[in-house]
Amino acid sequence: MSTAPLPANPDSSQGPNHVAIIMDGNGRWATARGLPRVAGHRRGADAVRRVVRGAGEFGIPILTLFAFSTENWTRPADEVSDLMGLLRHYLRNELKELHKNGVRLRVIGNREGLAPDIVNDIADAERTTLDNRRIDVNICINYGARDEILRATRSLARQVAAGELAADRIDANLFERELLTAGVPDPDLLIRTSGEQRISNFLLWQCAYSELVFVEALWPDFGKDDLAQAIAEYRRRERRYGGVSG
Ligand code: FPP
Repeated sequence: MSTAPLPANPDSSQGPNHVAIIMDGNGRWATARGLPRVAGHRRGADAVRRVVRGAGEFGIPILTLFAFSTENWTRPADEVSDLMGLLRHYLRNELKELHKNGVRLRVIGNREGLAPDIVNDIADAERTTLDNRRIDVNICINYGARDEILRATRSLARQVAAGELAADRIDANLFERELLTAGVPDPDLLIRTSGEQRISNFLLWQCAYSELVFVEALWPDFGKDDLAQAIAEYRRRERRYGGVSG
């Protein structure tokens, strides 16, 4: 984020309250320029800074970014290591700036598979920014929705088996409390960049009623204007949640 403070009182009354983004196209951005894939990821990290700032300016209260999936471990080792390096850098070197701008940072994902120093950096960033209220930025690292749903199911099954919970009491509210996103409202708008039109194991439960907006821009090229356009598209949509228009 840049050093300028975020403006006060942006108009967020029309929503979306929560924007989630699948940041796609870093590799293609780099390949098109004859650069190594890591160059695309680096420029992707610049786009993260622009979009966090843009979301703050547009008064979006919650922004969730898909940075590393449980499937991304299958990429070549040097690319995985570059991505972890970028995440480490972001958590460590940008914490002060994020904190100053009122960002409450939360990392969503399975921490068991992450290097211990990254787990410490995450804990430190979350602790430092815990009381900030300007904007919630959730970064999904080592996240996979099926894995999340399976873990939630196992946890509930264990509670039932232990006699602590009656199976009939399991409803959407109880289930949500077992998810990694417990306490986070569902995304209103899900954006995916790079022209791909898939959800790719991202927030499968939480996006049940999200509006999907697919944009052609590759993630490193995505900026404030693209975010504004996606929000405008969201505001044109009529959300019915399975009902009829009123
Ligand atoms: C998808 O593009 C992008 C990723 C797997 C990584 C996203 C990471 C960043 C934007 C950088 C660091 C993040 C933070 C929060 C600082 P791809 O590589 O799959 O692109 P391709 O489909 O063109 O190959």
